[in-house]
Amino acid sequence: MAGARNKGEGYFDEAYWNNRYARDPAPFDWYQRYGEISPLIKMYIKTTDRILMVGCGSALLSEEMAKDGYQRIMNVDISDILIKFLIDKYKHMPQLQYKTMDVRCMKEFKDGEFSSVLDKGMLDNLMCGSSAQACAASMLSEVHRVLKPGGIYMLVSYGDPRGRMAYLRTKYLPWASIKLHAIPRPGSKRAYPPRKITDVIEMQRDLSKGPWCNVEEPDLHYVYICSKLDPKAKEKTPELPKSSKLAIFKKSMLEAQNKILYNKYNSE
Ligand SMILES: C[S@@+](CC[C@H](N)C(=O)[O-])C[C@H]1O[C@@H](n2cnc3c(N)ncnc32)[C@H](O)[C@@H]1O
Repeated sequence: MAGARNKGEGYFDEAYWNNRYARDPAPFDWYQRYGEISPLIKMYIKTTDRILMVGCGSALLSEEMAKDGYQRIMNVDISDILIKFLIDKYKHMPQLQYKTMDVRCMKEFKDGEFSSVLDKGMLDNLMCGSSAQACAASMLSEVHRVLKPGGIYMLVSYGDPRGRMAYLRTKYLPWASIKLHAIPRPGSKRAYPPRKITDVIEMQRDLSKGPWCNVEEPDLHYVYICSKLDPKAKEKTPELPKSSKLAIFKKSMLEAQNKILYNKYNSE
C-alpha cells in the first residue's frame, strides 16, 4: 500500500474499491500469504474460534484458513461488488460468511461476539487517508467492542511500532497486552538475524531501537497481537520493563487504570 497512491486520494473510499473489484475480482493477497503467517495464526487463534476478518478483500487468506480447519470466519468488506462475488464463489464453503460492512461502524455485531479479529491491511488502508486518526480510532474501538474479553486482535501491517503503537496503546483501548512479531516481506533479500516468526520481539520503551523495530527497516511486515483485557484472568502487560521498582509500580498503575476503563467501557 505504501507509495501506491498519494495520501488522501481515496484509498479508504468505497467507490475506489468497488471500481477496482469490478475491474478485477481475481484473488490477491496484500503483504503475506497464509503459508507465511500460518504459524502465528495457529499460535493465537483456535480453529473453533469465531473469527472476524476485517477488510477481507479478494485475499485467499480466509479460504486457506478454512481448508486448514478453521470453522467459522465472518468476512466483511466495504465493497458490495466484491462481497456479492465472494458469496457466490464460496457458497460451497459454509465455514465462510460474508457481509458488506464499514469497519468503522459494525452495528450488526454484538459486543463480545468474536474470539478473534484478523486484520491484514485494513487499518493500514484507513491510515492512508486524510482523516486517518479519526478513521483508525473508530475502527479500533469497534474491533475492541466486538471482541470478547480475552479475545485477540491480530494486525498484520507494514507499519513499525513507532507508527502503530500510538493508535493501538491508548487509554480508550484497554488491551491487556500488545505483543509484536515481525516477518520479512516476500522476496526480501536482506539477511535478518535468525529468528522465527513466532518469536515475540521485545519492544523498546521509546519504540525506536532494536534491530527489528527500526523505522529504517523497509523489508519487514509487523504483526501486532492485542489481547482484550479479561478482568477474570490475571493478565500481564509484558511490553513494560520488569526490572526496576518504578517499572513495577507503573505496571500496577496501568493494570488498575485498565480495570477502571474496562468497567467504564462496559457500563456505557
Ligand atoms: C489493502 S486491502 C486488504 C485486503 C485483504 N485483507 C488482504 O490481505 O489482501 C483493504 C481492503 O479493505 C477494504 N476496505 C476499505 N475501507 C473499508 C472500510 N471502511 N470498511 C470495510 N472494508 C474496507 C477494501 O475494500 C479492501 O478490500
